Amino acid sequence: MQLLACLAALLLLGPADLFAARQPVRAKRAMVVTVETHATDVGVEVLKSGGNAIDAAVAVGFALAVTHPSAGNLGGGGFMLARFADGRTTFIDFRERAPTAATRDMYLDSKGGTTDESIVGYKASGVPGTVRGLEYAHSKYGKKPWADLVTPARDLAAKGFPVSFGLAGYLRSKKDLLGKSPDSKRIFLRENHHYEPGEVLVQLDLARTLDRIKQQGAKDFYEGETARLLAADMQSHGGLITLADLKDYAVVERKPLTGSYRGFEIVTAPPPSSGGVGILQMLGVLEKTEYEKSGAGSAVSIHMMTETMRHFFADRSEFFGDPEFFTVPIPRLLDPTYLAGIRNSIDQDHATPSLKVHPGQAGPQESPQTTHFTIADAEGNVVSVTYTLNGGFGSGVTASKLGFLLNNEMDDFSAKPGTPNMYGLIQGEANAIQPKKHPLSAMTPTIVLRRGQFYFALGSPGGPTIINTVLETIVNVLDFKMNIQQAVDFPRFHHQWLPDELRLEPGFSPDTMAILEARGHKLKFVTSQGEVAAIMLDGGWLQGAADGRAEGTAKGF
Ligand code: DON
Repeated sequence: MQLLACLAALLLLGPADLFAARQPVRAKRAMVVTVETHATDVGVEVLKSGGNAIDAAVAVGFALAVTHPSAGNLGGGGFMLARFADGRTTFIDFRERAPTAATRDMYLDSKGGTTDESIVGYKASGVPGTVRGLEYAHSKYGKKPWADLVTPARDLAAKGFPVSFGLAGYLRSKKDLLGKSPDSKRIFLRENHHYEPGEVLVQLDLARTLDRIKQQGAKDFYEGETARLLAADMQSHGGLITLADLKDYAVVERKPLTGSYRGFEIVTAPPPSSGGVGILQMLGVLEKTEYEKSGAGSAVSIHMMTETMRHFFADRSEFFGDPEFFTVPIPRLLDPTYLAGIRNSIDQDHATPSLKVHPGQAGPQESPQTTHFTIADAEGNVVSVTYTLNGGFGSGVTASKLGFLLNNEMDDFSAKPGTPNMYGLIQGEANAIQPKKHPLSAMTPTIVLRRGQFYFALGSPGGPTIINTVLETIVNVLDFKMNIQQAVDFPRFHHQWLPDELRLEPGFSPDTMAILEARGHKLKFVTSQGEVAAIMLDGGWLQGAADGRAEGTAKGF
């Protein structure tokens, strides 16, 4: 009987439909992909009850601040890229800004060395942008009542949710960082009685904060009770963020950066992200090569892509900063003649050593410390959001009486131009610390269009690896013809100019690695790179792809 059923299935499907690769989740009307399943459910419910993709993104943004505390946040910032059903696009920049009292050398000791204050503790935080960013998006583009979008998060905080396997392990692994802050220790470490998977995490301080935000909107966070408590906590612990800084924080709505690749249109992140320019530069270099002919994961394609990455990250170290303070020379960085120069300089057979002024140090391995979610609604709107506290659980500080973690985004500035930051990235004067400046980011929410219509949207966490993760996922679809899930699942690699090493996930063949080594690449092995959340529209079906590297889910209806 079973055999008959198999045969019948074979005849019905035909060999082309017997998938060798994992399939995306398919739905006709709407789709939500996030890194955490309660948050995905919140987004789906908002869409089902008549909200649009912006409404769902706002609700998911608040929900992840509760259920994915390592990166979901009220105390951080990020970018929202949206494309509306009528074809308009926008980019909402709610990235943190340096406090007014920030100074260029604030993270240098008396000998000129860098301290860890850009990473740990109160001084590491930029002025958070998330709450104002979500409110801005909602007031301009949403349609459901604000309170309806904050309530699910508030309830998850008040009633609690079962801690996942991943969160339990990650909390435990960050006990030293979280243990430094009394509120983090009490809430997230339960005074060192660590959460086991399945145990319920209740966050009452956070529920109260969300209640106020639900009732008063972002005004509470930037001028009201939350602002006062945050500023007071900062002041008593040597932090720089004042009430005036909070009140002054402004969202910037920007025009997305656009370009084309092999007939597809790419809509992506402008500065203060370096990611969009990176994607367009690297695609521009690859476009006129035939790198893809040797196949995904081949030594030839990895070599060509790696050399392209090396060039972009060298440019990144010099030419990128907040566009309000520094003119990023985008036209020059994407000029066809300039791209041809990069292309022609690539040695097809040998790695070019990254012999530049300052040798980098190996940054720590990336872990899931930022988060990306992608939402498509039944009206044809698509939203792609990456937001973050920077490091996992940010600065480690939970604001007293407020229940949310604060970012350590100040480390994304060049604390000392030319010296590697926590991602081993060398950055330049253009990204030096200045009051009210946005630190340079690698976050790259991106949307790809086909014949003028939405094709797929994606993004990832991962510090500098974000840019390469997004690049690889795009070419996996466009050049290597993978389905969106396969494109997300495929092993990833990363090169960032300095340190001069090619980082590889597991999954590449030993022969490939031997060829790469013979070409002069210094291989380094990492367990995981990025956590993409992607949605594609193909053949009338929305296809959601959560990343197997994380605990995320794609759900649609
Ligand atoms: O904006 C940036 O580029 C970083 N703050 C992102 C950090 C990140 O993705 C950490 N995740 N691994």
